Amino acid sequence: HLASQRYIWGKNEVVNSWVMSKPNAHKGDNGRVGIIAGSEAMPGAAALAGSAAVRSGAGFTTIATVAQNVPVIASHVKEAMYTIFSEKHGYLAPTETELAAFMDNKQSIAVGPGLGRTPALTKMVAYLLVHFKGVLILDADALHCLKECGPIVQERTAPTVITPHPGEMAMLIDQSVSYVNKNRFEVAESYAEQYGVYVVLKGPNTIVAEPSGCISVNVTGNAGLAKGGSGDVLTGMVAALVARQRIQPALSSAVFFHGYAADLLAKQRHVLATITPSDIIEHLPEAFS
Ligand code: APR
Ligand code: MG
Repeated sequence: HLASQRYIWGKNEVVNSWVMSKPNAHKGDNGRVGIIAGSEAMPGAAALAGSAAVRSGAGFTTIATVAQNVPVIASHVKEAMYTIFSEKHGYLAPTETELAAFMDNKQSIAVGPGLGRTPALTKMVAYLLVHFKGVLILDADALHCLKECGPIVQERTAPTVITPHPGEMAMLIDQSVSYVNKNRFEVAESYAEQYGVYVVLKGPNTIVAEPSGCISVNVTGNAGLAKGGSGDVLTGMVAALVARQRIQPALSSAVFFHGYAADLLAKQRHVLATITPSDIIEHLPEAFS
């Protein structure tokens, strides 16, 4: 069956649903966010997601990554705290004790950017799905584990968010990318309903499908975002916004601002290919204003 409701999430919707920080807010009020990201060969993914979370207003951002990455990431993301997880051959392989300690107190955890596909990641995703009581955001490599964890997802009571690009969505449903691109609404909606997750199906006009069947469509963004790392930035933004607002509008607004920062940059740059994911993070304040 088809969606009960489909709507465009534009400037008015963002403005009307925006939750301002309280004047007397302390950092705990602004959300405790966890980012599990990066491996020896991909420190940048963790830096981008972490930095985007900080810029998007997270009160506390903690990045869990491999030990050797911490100095380089910390020099870029000074505001974050760091948790060193056990590793195997340069990839994260945390123990359950390490994961349990990391989950403690967090409103949201995003897992995936730059992790690489390892058996340890599958175990980590399964553990988080079962035990984490906050909003869990699965992106990139973590999505590849989701298929194996299928039934566990449906048992979660806290919200689960997935942020696949069309290729990752195709992998999740065993279809071709062209099938996904031709049936974006139906694919996002039926996955959201079947598994009870929030689906952020990326690409031009990103779709956010809720488990209830509601769908919002984004109208910001441009080809300046077509560069490795843009998705990692979105993941950090999503983690920050869901940590201190209701899951919807947080998801649709995160997608809006990510694209809006790119649109502001496009006006200045003209040559879209010169836009970088780091530029997007730098322009978030202007976009939020
Ligand atoms: N117009 C509008 N938005 C776009 C466009 C476009 N032409 N191209 C890309 N975007 C946006 C998408 O909507 C999404 O928000 O940029 C982001 C790209 O996200 P990803 O496809 O996840 O890209 P990336 O950051 O490179 O992911 C890093 O993780 O997902 C894995 O395998 C992937 O190696 C890649 C890594
Ligand atoms: Mg990605």
